[in-house]
Amino acid sequence: MNWFDSKRRQNFLIWEWFPRPENIRYRNAISAMDDTIYKIIRQRRESGEDPGDLLSMMMAARDEDDGSGMSDQQLRDEIATLMLAGHETTANALSWTWMLLAQNPDAEVKLHEELQQVLQGRSPTIEDLPQLRYASAVITESMRLYPPVSLVGREAVEDVEVGDYFIPEGCVVMLSQWVMHHSPKYFDAADAFQPERWLGDLEKQLPRGVYFPFGDGPRICIGKGFALMEAVLILATVAQQYQMKLVPEHKIIPQPSITLRPEHGIQVTLNRR
Ligand code: HEM
Repeated sequence: MNWFDSKRRQNFLIWEWFPRPENIRYRNAISAMDDTIYKIIRQRRESGEDPGDLLSMMMAARDEDDGSGMSDQQLRDEIATLMLAGHETTANALSWTWMLLAQNPDAEVKLHEELQQVLQGRSPTIEDLPQLRYASAVITESMRLYPPVSLVGREAVEDVEVGDYFIPEGCVVMLSQWVMHHSPKYFDAADAFQPERWLGDLEKQLPRGVYFPFGDGPRICIGKGFALMEAVLILATVAQQYQMKLVPEHKIIPQPSITLRPEHGIQVTLNRR
């Protein structure tokens, strides 16, 4: 993440092979990650265990044509993708959500009222999700203001005209969730945190491409359903037990890296409810 951000700051005009400190740190980080992942794969292969998790499912998967399984490198690539695409994104969505709730006590009160009413003190389950409408609107609104992925790109496979623009083959077009999600053309009080706006059918009414935290088209996020489920369940579980207050002197700075993350984290104090 830091490496990508340093490239961005230099307009992507740096030599990746050059032994600059950030390039060296990046290569060290990749080998630390590889060591960890290959160790997990080796241990699982040696033990022959099948706890039914994603790793054992991927190990059991067979190519329909030639019956082969995944190589260690393929498994490593899948695991690295899931760590970045699956963990980092939802973690950021939840971090921004806690910040927004701490900054908007009215929304926090409404969330807590819903949790009391629906759960009455017990832990949430998947069956509760349809009733946790405000909690779900909190996540939707948080991803509007702080989209965990704030920029996606598409490369034109052939010359194409879009509106008034001619886009030549090979040209990369960037689409920004951050820009669209903050557009006053589509959102009243666009910079305000108002989960209520999602309680009606706003999401259905918006033109395609206005709200797209998970991207769109054939390469839309494969984890969308899972991410929404886990984000709402984690939010409900933690919010039921704790209230978070921001540490006043800690500056929160959005860092538009591969994901949109708080550059120096978000510091909070936890109060048990
Ligand atoms: C709040 C959480 C998440 C957000 C905001 C998010 C966002 C995105 C976005 C914007 C894309 C690119 C889509 C495009 O180019 O149109 C993407 C792709 C992807 N996401 Fe997620 N994601 C989240 C959670 C997850 C989870 C939980 C998983 C897996 C368990 C996951 C796995 C993937 C994968 C594998 C891709 C690549 C799909 C492809 O290229 O076909 N994501 N995600």
